[in-house]
Amino acid sequence: MKTLTVASLQNSPEFGNIRANLHDLIGLLPPGCDLAVLPELCATGYQFRDRDEVMDLAEVIAPGQEPGPITTRLSEVAEASGTTIIAGVAERDGDRLFNSAVLLRPDGSRSIYRKIHLFMDEKKLFDPGDLGFSVVDACGVKVGMMVCFDWIFPESARTLALQGAQIIAHPSNLVLPWCPQAMITRSLENGVFTMTANRIGRELRTDTPLEFIGLSQVISPTGERLVQLGKEETGAAVVTINITEADKKITAANDLFADRRPEFYK
Ligand code: ACM
Repeated sequence: MKTLTVASLQNSPEFGNIRANLHDLIGLLPPGCDLAVLPELCATGYQFRDRDEVMDLAEVIAPGQEPGPITTRLSEVAEASGTTIIAGVAERDGDRLFNSAVLLRPDGSRSIYRKIHLFMDEKKLFDPGDLGFSVVDACGVKVGMMVCFDWIFPESARTLALQGAQIIAHPSNLVLPWCPQAMITRSLENGVFTMTANRIGRELRTDTPLEFIGLSQVISPTGERLVQLGKEETGAAVVTINITEADKKITAANDLFADRRPEFYK
């Protein structure tokens, strides 16, 4: 048995107010937590009007380069608290813009993921992720990242699980209603913990009003919803998990991965 205390944070950001949003997020971080997942675009807000607006609020997050203010501040918090933090951040890389997630370890190192499946207006605002899905070591376990709308493509979680992910961290800004239920299946079919961190509130910065559904959660590899927040509260969905449960054995005779028949999946 190897236990880990994990938390999916749920906030209500004010668009563009990075300083206040970061302050709120840091205040939500539970003490003594090994891994905390924060929502997609957690400190900027979601509904950018155009690419120029993204360019103004986006920052460098790639390892090996001087990071921007959100990454720097959350990295300081990771170091001070001993918590590995995964946060959704608008990433600038030269002229390119990505809807990314950054994983910040207490030792100051970081890993990134660039959202592969862009949702609605994101297609006009961001470049599609170009790094693929990858699994990294963090807080003594194998962690994979995907961002929000990636959930509707089962290939996202499957690819991460096949690479050995034990936990899939899922920063989100969900507006469609189906994801919290679908992630039960993603966990079960892949034998992984999933941590969806969503936001609440509304944004009406274009002519498409958006209402974010909350319901941040942690799901076990057997599809049990271990903890979930409501649709209107901010807070942290915290639970202590036994990572050895991220197993592929379904019956004495069945293994989720060993029993796959990829030759018939074409
Ligand atoms: C989404 O991908 N933010 C719905």
